[in-house]
Amino acid sequence: MKLDLAAYDRDGFLVLKDFLSAADCDALQARAADLVSAFDPGPVRTVFSTRDQGHARDRYFRESGGAIRFFFEEEATDQPVALALNKIGHALHDLDPVFDRISRQAHFAGLASALGFRQPLLLQSMYLFKQPHIGGEVGWHQDATYLHTRPSTVTGFWIALDDADRDNGCLMALPGGHRGPLRQRFRRVGEAMVTETLDATPWPDTPPVALEASRGTLVVLHGLLPHASAPNRSGRSRQAYALHLIDGCAEYGLDNWLQRPDFPLRGFA
Ligand code: FE2
Repeated sequence: MKLDLAAYDRDGFLVLKDFLSAADCDALQARAADLVSAFDPGPVRTVFSTRDQGHARDRYFRESGGAIRFFFEEEATDQPVALALNKIGHALHDLDPVFDRISRQAHFAGLASALGFRQPLLLQSMYLFKQPHIGGEVGWHQDATYLHTRPSTVTGFWIALDDADRDNGCLMALPGGHRGPLRQRFRRVGEAMVTETLDATPWPDTPPVALEASRGTLVVLHGLLPHASAPNRSGRSRQAYALHLIDGCAEYGLDNWLQRPDFPLRGFA
């Protein structure tokens, strides 16, 4: 696969238009809708927010690394479940046959090897809803804060399943910001999750760019790239599928929040 690796080194991201076929976008959206209709939230709606650490003590979240679990929008009130979810995570790619098949296509493996992965492992998958009107903001962060290896190898494949633009909360990034240090780590201490500051260097004051992406576009995100997304105040949804890879050559510590004690991580095979 031909990639503009010079641009990736310079910017910390790559935007690959038409990476996922319309049929595969349809299949992921239909499968997510089926999972949602089979989901019974019961009396407790578990909220996930990167700002609110209240979820951190929640076992439901803590054990979701090896499961398919559902997380609600902070601003959800009386919406039906299908319009109230923030995301589904975090092992769709291993536990659901449709997500497994689409995540492990040859051109995904080819992309990972073109990026320099020697032993790619599919660590985390998320179906992101960014619902009309209530889709929450995701603040500036580096993915290596949440998924940490030594050396850092985490890389995101973020795929637009709806057209994503400034109106419905597309990705925003600070080009070149991946050359700065990792600022924080979110990690396990016993049963608790803590956010630790490693380096207080502020984000670079380069102007943020909007990574507008038409349906089927895959955005590669370097694990140290500062990125964010605005709330979705539009009437359109902004669904996306995000897959995070690490390299099996690097060390993945037991203090990462995402642990998979029951079944091992797999690559593309
Ligand atoms: Fe992220």
